[in-house]
Amino acid sequence: MKKLVRNSAVVILAILASGCGNGTKEEYKMSKESFGSLDGKEVVLVTLTNRQGNTLKLTNYGATVVWIDVPDRDGNVDNITFGFEDLEGYLNGDPYFGSIVGRYANRIAEGKFSIDGKEYTLAINNDPNTLHGGPEGWHSVVWDYEIVEPEEGNPAVHFRYKSPDMEEGYPGNMEVEAIYEWTDDNEMIITYSATTDASTVFNITNHAYFNLNGAGSGDILDHELTIRAAAFTPVNETLIPTGEIIPVAGTPFDFTSAHRIGERIGEGYDQLELGLGYDHNFVLDNNEKIDAVVYSPKTGRYMEVETDQPGVQFYCGNFLDGTMRGHEGKVYNYRGGLCLETQHFPDSPNQPEFPSTRLDPGDTFRSVTLYRFGVRE
Ligand code: BGC
Repeated sequence: MKKLVRNSAVVILAILASGCGNGTKEEYKMSKESFGSLDGKEVVLVTLTNRQGNTLKLTNYGATVVWIDVPDRDGNVDNITFGFEDLEGYLNGDPYFGSIVGRYANRIAEGKFSIDGKEYTLAINNDPNTLHGGPEGWHSVVWDYEIVEPEEGNPAVHFRYKSPDMEEGYPGNMEVEAIYEWTDDNEMIITYSATTDASTVFNITNHAYFNLNGAGSGDILDHELTIRAAAFTPVNETLIPTGEIIPVAGTPFDFTSAHRIGERIGEGYDQLELGLGYDHNFVLDNNEKIDAVVYSPKTGRYMEVETDQPGVQFYCGNFLDGTMRGHEGKVYNYRGGLCLETQHFPDSPNQPEFPSTRLDPGDTFRSVTLYRFGVRE
């Protein structure tokens, strides 16, 4: 039977390590503390500490990843994702650090789409388009949560949100869930599910920024990236896909074998100029378990990404400008973090050739993305 932990001031819950044959050293710990409140709703910070002693911190504001600490090749542990020390930080112009974005991740052209001949109009928050659901998307709402200690499987935090009909202009009452697990092998697994009571469009992702040298320690241009994608979707000057799906071969978008992110970013290639760097959806081959790998030669840390989604938005922090300070006052510089946002393609509701993002009553959307952290020489 599952044990659920709800709303007490501070809860510490330890799962006994007995019988755990992982070569690991500690008990699994789950705790929560107050992170503030918003619109009368309690906002909490939940800390999951696995048997390696590494932690994943989450808040129910935006169902957000706040902190992930993992060792480098010498055993030095550091936080490798962008976040703030308190709720205030997230309320002051946060560029989606670690949050879930929805209902529609990435852009919808001019904030318009049609379903069965009926046109819907969204708020424009990324002139002339709608970005990441709209100005008050799911990154900025307080989600319900449960901390779950299962008898089998991994400890987890279940975040749930009921999105009302016409919220931010989208039709249908939706019920959405994002479950985070943090395993003893330093894997963060996110399982999404969603239903609607009227036909709508839906595209969900997590928008974590990673720097495997430590969040706030310079840029990510030395990181080596592999994306198992033979094609990408080029964009126009407002970062809306043109509708084409073009091969990466022979372009700076070919990450089918590992390349330093900085290696070709300055090349006079029109898509890099339009994106101000990499800010594009890659069409995943989806035929291997691991869809993307990032590796830092400096620290030896790597991150592997596995997903069942058809695309991944590779964004390398081109819009960061060094004015934002996060954990421990560290500065998040221009290109100081990279995002690998697993998702459907941007603007799919207006692009008939792209995989459909329509969700109908009676259908349940289900999807899993895994981020695995490790080290190598
Ligand atoms: C988009 C970028 C945008 C960023 C906001 C990414 O998903 O592709 O264009 O600036 O999110 O943080």
